[in-house]
Amino acid sequence: MAIRIDGKAISTEIKDELKERVAAYKAAGTDICLAVIQVGDDKASTVYVSNKKKACEYIGIKSLAYELPEETTTEELLAIIEELNGRSDVNGILVQLPVPKHIDEEKILLAISPDKDVDGFHPVSVGRLNIGQKGFRSCTPAGVIQLLKRTGISIEGKECVVVGRSNIVGKPMAAMLLAENGTVTICHSRTKDLASVTKRADILVVAIGKPKFITAEYVKEGAAVIDVGIHRMDDGKLCGDVDFADVEPVAGAITPVPGGVGPMTIAMLMNNCVESVELQKQ
Ligand code: GUN
Repeated sequence: MAIRIDGKAISTEIKDELKERVAAYKAAGTDICLAVIQVGDDKASTVYVSNKKKACEYIGIKSLAYELPEETTTEELLAIIEELNGRSDVNGILVQLPVPKHIDEEKILLAISPDKDVDGFHPVSVGRLNIGQKGFRSCTPAGVIQLLKRTGISIEGKECVVVGRSNIVGKPMAAMLLAENGTVTICHSRTKDLASVTKRADILVVAIGKPKFITAEYVKEGAAVIDVGIHRMDDGKLCGDVDFADVEPVAGAITPVPGGVGPMTIAMLMNNCVESVELQKQ
């Protein structure tokens, strides 16, 4: 039976470590502040933003909330970002996605200073990750690396297979596993004979957005299986991209949904906010 990787416990451990670092900064006269911008009132976004504010409070980071009306224009949002870029008392800037359709999302993400880009979505942050420079790392894949490390699963020299090639998860996940000296393969919707590739994996990360897609036939005996997906089923229960009941007996370690990767994203956002102080000193 697989080890269940407890994302809730690991995220709490990380947040508690960050709390101590924030207290030390405070004692030395440095406050940390995250600006969180939400445009419109998408229900899921409101929950995410509220969780981010709560995490800031827990850790001792100040949060500046911007709740902007749905009709906000790209130009108005750009003006707010410009102002926040210039404020020395603001360390991190986050625009909750998705933004309403009439807003130019690419323009918005480009406008955030790469030195305050705590989501790690700016092309400069992506470039820094890919060439091994210091910078902000996308939170969800950074959380996966922490789950592996803190469970004692080494990445170096391992066959790592990432299923999914999104800009937020799949691609940065592959870059981070490579940076840890894994041997990395990325699979996607056009991959031929997916199971033959995923079966090679010592570490299998799944981020494809299809409920219970990965069954035991896709998994090598003893592999670490990390499930980034989250879906609400018709019966109201949550599940991931991995069929947990089917895969658990063959895996060596596995993340549950909920309580696996999910809680790590906010913990790593908080980590980026704390790291911002050092990055901004340079
Ligand atoms: N929407 C869903 N997840 C995220 C995230 O990690 N960051 C931002 N900015 N928006 C999101």
